[in-house]
Amino acid sequence: ARKIIIDTDPGQDDAAALMLAFASPDELEVLGVTTVAGNVPLAMTSRNARVVCELCGRSDARVYPGAERPMVKPLVTAEHVHGKTGLDGAELPEPSMPLQDTHAVDFIIDTLRHEPAGTVTLCTLGALTNIGLAFKKAPDIAPRIRELVMMGGGFFEGGNITPAAEFNIFVDPHAAEIVFRSGVPIVMMPLDVTHQLLTTKARVARIAALATRPAEVLKGWLEFFERFDVEKYGSDGGPLHDPSVIAYLLRPDLFDGRDCNVEIETVSELTIGMTVVDWWRVSGRPANARVMRKVDADGFFDLLTERVARL
Ligand code: BDR
Ligand code: CA
Repeated sequence: ARKIIIDTDPGQDDAAALMLAFASPDELEVLGVTTVAGNVPLAMTSRNARVVCELCGRSDARVYPGAERPMVKPLVTAEHVHGKTGLDGAELPEPSMPLQDTHAVDFIIDTLRHEPAGTVTLCTLGALTNIGLAFKKAPDIAPRIRELVMMGGGFFEGGNITPAAEFNIFVDPHAAEIVFRSGVPIVMMPLDVTHQLLTTKARVARIAALATRPAEVLKGWLEFFERFDVEKYGSDGGPLHDPSVIAYLLRPDLFDGRDCNVEIETVSELTIGMTVVDWWRVSGRPANARVMRKVDADGFFDLLTERVARL
């Protein structure tokens, strides 16, 4: 199985991504879950990550708390989307599994130094703060990473927190800049992809029909998160962002994109956090990311449903 670290700020869609990963042990070995402040503050994302592990029957998983705030900017959260807890939409018990003592940044550094080079993939579902801090503290780890697959950014679709910026990059553009300049092979799942992954009533009903506890909880989360918004997305569902990262590891054939240069805006007041994607290769700058633009949405929801059934 491919070794992964999941860096996350749960978040209902982060939770769905964790479920997809834990439901796929033949393909993916989750070495650790690292948390970051984003959708809600760190204490809450660290709680929520453990809630999801326990829901998946994985109280043995290791959850490492990471950065409480972005590298430079003050923290911006998104309770308006995810609710007060970040995981509103289902009633779940407080977690009883422990939070690890090691800081997420040290866990990431130690793991990359100890695992054979080129074997560990980083999956990032939130702001890139932990990764930016790890690269700054230990520049030797970047060349040891197999691949970094992120949910973040947007170009043709614009932004979702400002007209220009997607939330994860907006929260910590300075960390994102470090990551995009690191030389690590990056796969980017921008809003251009995730806005195709709409949780229509029919798709949610298929998950609910599994009639298991994890499926029932996921249904509650999906119905809460970006509640059905016909006008906004032209469909009876909202976008499901973060599981695209895990789905890509399981089924890369579901996605289509191209290698291009991506730079992060860190200065402009109007467009800070924008991912400037050179899709048409007009800048002459070298490609530093594979930017996805299309997804087989039915194939994605088939995969999610089939895997959640295994939990
Ligand atoms: C991203 O922002 C968060 O609110 C979601 O969990 C996702 O990672 C989408 O812009
Ligand atoms: Ca997230």
